[in-house]
Amino acid sequence: MTSNKSLLILPGDGIGPEAMAEVRRIVGWMEENRAVAFDVDEDLVGGASIDEHGIPITDAVVEKAQNVDAVLLGAVGGPKWDDLDFSIKPERGLLRLRKDLQLFANLRPAVCFDALVDASSLKPELVSGLDIMIVRELTGGVYFGEPRGIEDLGNGVRRGINTQVYTTPEIHRVARVAFELAKKRGNRVCSSEKANVMESGVLWREEVTHIQQTEFPDVELSHMYADNAAMQLVRAPKQFDVIVTDNLFGDILSDCAAMLTGSLGMLPSASLGDVDETGRRKALYEPVHGSAPDISGQNLANPIATILSYAMALRYSFDMGDEADLVEGAVEKVLASGVRTGDIMATGMTQVSTTEMGDAILKELNKAN
Ligand code: NAI
Ligand code: MG
Repeated sequence: MTSNKSLLILPGDGIGPEAMAEVRRIVGWMEENRAVAFDVDEDLVGGASIDEHGIPITDAVVEKAQNVDAVLLGAVGGPKWDDLDFSIKPERGLLRLRKDLQLFANLRPAVCFDALVDASSLKPELVSGLDIMIVRELTGGVYFGEPRGIEDLGNGVRRGINTQVYTTPEIHRVARVAFELAKKRGNRVCSSEKANVMESGVLWREEVTHIQQTEFPDVELSHMYADNAAMQLVRAPKQFDVIVTDNLFGDILSDCAAMLTGSLGMLPSASLGDVDETGRRKALYEPVHGSAPDISGQNLANPIATILSYAMALRYSFDMGDEADLVEGAVEKVLASGVRTGDIMATGMTQVSTTEMGDAILKELNKAN
């Protein structure tokens, strides 16, 4: 054992705990087979926290999240809590975490595993080998800008208002995350906005360029209007390495890119905040999917999105890139061997349960070790 790494696991609701149980086995594997010890704590979020404490997350859990290297979250929500007031709904737990930890950079990889090229909405040759990373600004922009609201102008006319607002520090910090990522990947960043029609887009373009020129001169930077980026993502997605964009365009472009790779059950994400005095970057890792109440409790869920979220934590919070490669490689091999959960099932493949998928991934990890 050489170092201690702190991880807070919040399994949440529905299939969250089922997928997280498989992650815990992989954490255990890492400890047994690598010179590493994870200091793992587990707590409640979402409906599970409402049932126990009456609120979707407690101050104590937020405090814990502030003080670990990484938080790994399953999913929150479900029909049991649907009728609750918005202020105490399960989703508020997640929103509070994002807000209190100030997680301003949302990383959404779109990776196409060769075994799943047929699950893509695009032709296999367009997505085979696809590996792009979308960095979406998450705490600013039109979703939060003031003024906002719906005004009554009289005579039966109403006006809805939202405001796109970005300051230079907000642009700089998310741009830095994108350039740092690019250095560890294909060394290219494409920044996307609508500088042709929006002043905030002009500022975005100027400031991203400024960060590139002053801090990352070796990273290639290009600019693309967001509507064109949407077209290019479905026309020739492999042209991209890292895409950095604002909150609204990132919301749309990341969902668009996700569908290039197949199932919701395969998609991880990371949300990163600032680096603190000790050099630690606040980080929350979670699958893109929700709690899937329609299949929860039946050992049917695909745990891969949550397992790949853990792999992202290894890579970005624990400086364990080799181990992240190992986990991703094991997933790739399992898929190539024809083992599938129901959501990614295809003719001629073998359908397995959540736990059997975990077994198969552990087996591949042992082989690779
Ligand atoms: P969902 O992502 O939970 O499910 C959509 C569909 O995909 C369902 O048919 C589900 O069975 C399937 N699916 C999702 N993940 C899967 C996996 N890992 N393996 C196999 N199949 C999978 O979205 P939905 O149904 O809109 O929402 C259900 C609940 O989850 C709601 O309460 C919603 O508020 C919450 N939710 C939570 C999120 C989060 O915690 N970040 C994100 C999205 C929804
Ligand atoms: Mg969305």
